[in-house]
Amino acid sequence: MNRRAPWSFLLLFLTFPALAASPDGVVATSHPAASAAGARMLAAGGNAIDAAAAVQFALNVVEPQSSGIGGGGFMLVHIAKTGETVFVDSREKAPAAASADMFVSHGSPMAFPLASTSGLAVGVPGTLRGIEVALKQWGTMTLADTVAPAIELAEHGFRVNRFLAEDIVNDGDRTRIHPETAAIFRPGGVPLAEGDWLVQRDLAQTFRLIAAQGVDVFYEGPIADAIVQAQSRTRDALGPAGAGRMTLADLQGYRPAIRDPLIGQFRGWTLATMPPPSSGGLTLLQMLGLLKDFPIGDASQGYGFGEPGTLHVMIEAMRLGFADRAAWLGDGDTVSIPVGGLLHPAYLAQRAASIHPDRRMATPDAGDPRPWQRESFSIPPRTTRMREESPHTTHFSIIDRWGNVVSYTSTIEHTWGSGITVPRYGFLLNNELTDFNFVPAHDSASGNPGANDVGPGKRPRSSMAPTLLLRDGKPVAAYGSPGGATIINSVFNVTLNLLAHGMTLQQAIDAPRVSVTHATGMVSCEGVSDPTSTGIGTTVQDVLRAQGHAIAGAEGTDGCTATIGSVQAVAVDLATGTHRGAADSRREGTVIRVPR
Ligand code: GLY
Repeated sequence: MNRRAPWSFLLLFLTFPALAASPDGVVATSHPAASAAGARMLAAGGNAIDAAAAVQFALNVVEPQSSGIGGGGFMLVHIAKTGETVFVDSREKAPAAASADMFVSHGSPMAFPLASTSGLAVGVPGTLRGIEVALKQWGTMTLADTVAPAIELAEHGFRVNRFLAEDIVNDGDRTRIHPETAAIFRPGGVPLAEGDWLVQRDLAQTFRLIAAQGVDVFYEGPIADAIVQAQSRTRDALGPAGAGRMTLADLQGYRPAIRDPLIGQFRGWTLATMPPPSSGGLTLLQMLGLLKDFPIGDASQGYGFGEPGTLHVMIEAMRLGFADRAAWLGDGDTVSIPVGGLLHPAYLAQRAASIHPDRRMATPDAGDPRPWQRESFSIPPRTTRMREESPHTTHFSIIDRWGNVVSYTSTIEHTWGSGITVPRYGFLLNNELTDFNFVPAHDSASGNPGANDVGPGKRPRSSMAPTLLLRDGKPVAAYGSPGGATIINSVFNVTLNLLAHGMTLQQAIDAPRVSVTHATGMVSCEGVSDPTSTGIGTTVQDVLRAQGHAIAGAEGTDGCTATIGSVQAVAVDLATGTHRGAADSRREGTVIRVPR
C-alpha cells in the first residue's frame, strides 16, 4: 500500500485547488441501486436527509438481509447552516411486557439459534419513525418522493448480487425456517443465485401504503396487526416461551430520540460519535484515548501501519475497551452510565498503563471509572459474559451540495434478522433483542448493575458508531461500518489510518483490519489472502502469536482470514470545499457523485 506521511490526511484536503468549484452531492452506500436512489434525490434538488430516506428504503429492497423498516438504526445528521450535529436514534425497543429473564428457559439461557429466530427476539421497529422525524425536521421532500425508488426496485425487480446470494446460502437456515421468507429468497426451495432477478410485490405494496398514508400506517392498523401476529411465532423447541411479547400499544407508542453526540479528541481532530444506547462511540473514544501516548504512525519507532507494535497496542486497547463495555454500557435512558468517568483522561491513563509494548496483558477486568465520575454509583460492576454478535447491518454516508451530512448505520441485527417476514407485507422483522444480555447480570449482592439486561421499553446495547470527524469545528469526514461488535473496531482502524497513518479516505477503508471484541477473545484479522488489500502477513501474525495473542492457525500459517466491516464514507476538502466519497469493496460499495 502506498502510504502518506502522518498529517497528510489534512494535506490531502489542501492539495487540489484546481478542483475548487465542485461542492457536488456525494452518496456512498453498500449497493449501487441504493446509491442511485439517494443520488436521484440529490439530483432532484433534495438534501442529504431526503437522500438518506431514499437510500434506506432502497436498501430494504436490495440488501434486505441487513436493514429495513422492520429494524432500527442511528442516523448522524450534520446541518451545515447551523453547524449542529445530532443523532436520530431509531433503535428498536423491548416491549412493555419484556422481562430481564425472558431469554432464560428452565433455568438455562435459550439456545441462540432458536431464540434469535423466534418472535421473542423482535424489538419494536424504529426505522420508519426515525425517517419521519428526520424528514420533518430537516428534509425538503415528501415521504412519498423518497420511497418512490424503492417501490420501483421492489416492483420491477433487481439483479441479485454476489453478497445477497452468499447470504442466502450461508444463512444458518434463517431464510428457510419461516415460509414467507423462504418463498421470497428460496422460490421453489432453490436459493436465489447471483444474477437472478428478484421482484418483491408485497414489499412494493407496503411501500405504496406508506407513501400514500404516511408512517402511521405501519404503527397502527392492519400492518401493525400483522407485525404483532407475526412476532407471536415461536420455534417448536421453545414452546410458548419463544413467542414475542409486543402489543399494538408498543407499536403505537414507539418514539425515536434525538441525541447529542459524544465528543472526543485525537491529535487535534474532533470526533462526534454515537452515545448510548450504543456502546460504539464511547468505546471508540476510549480506545483512541488509551493509545493517546503511543506514537502510532511513526514507523521509525515500530508503530507504522500494519507493524506488530501497532497491531499489538490496538488489540490491547480493544481488549480494555471491550471489558468496560461489557460491564458498564447499556441504554442510558434506563440505567446510569458513568460516561464522564469512562472517558476521563486520568482514568484512561490508568487503564493504558497496563498495556505492555510487546507482551499481551493478562485478561483485563472492567475498570472502575467511578472516582472520575461526578455522579455517584453505588454498585461495582462485574464483567458480563459476552455472546458472539452478528456481523451484519449496513452503513451509508451522504453529503449534499450545501454541506449537510448524513452518516447512518442501520440494522435488523443478525443477517436476516429474526428470519420472520411479515405475511402479506414482505419485510423482515429484526431480532435486535438478542443484543441484550441473555442471562440477567444484575446482582445487588455482588453489585453488578446489569446495564444491558432486558427491561420494558429498554433499548438493547448497540455497537453502531456513525462518526463525524471535524477540524476547527468544520466537518472533514463521516463514516461508519456494519459488523456487530466489530463495528467499533472497524471505525477505530479507519480513524487511526486517517489520523495517525496519513492515508487517504479510500486507502483508510481498503487497508486490512484487525479486531478483537472480548477481553479474552481470539483476534480476527484480514490476512494475506484478502483480495481487497495486501493483508496482515504471516510474519507479523507470528510476532503477535509470540506476544501471546490468539490468532487462528499455527505459526507460519495465515490465520487472518476474516472480512471485517464495510465502511462507506464522505469527506470535505477544507481548502476547496470539494466533496468526495469512498466505499468498501468488502461489499458492493458504490460512490455516486451528483454534480450541482
Ligand atoms: N445489531 C448491531 C448493533 O446494534 O450493534
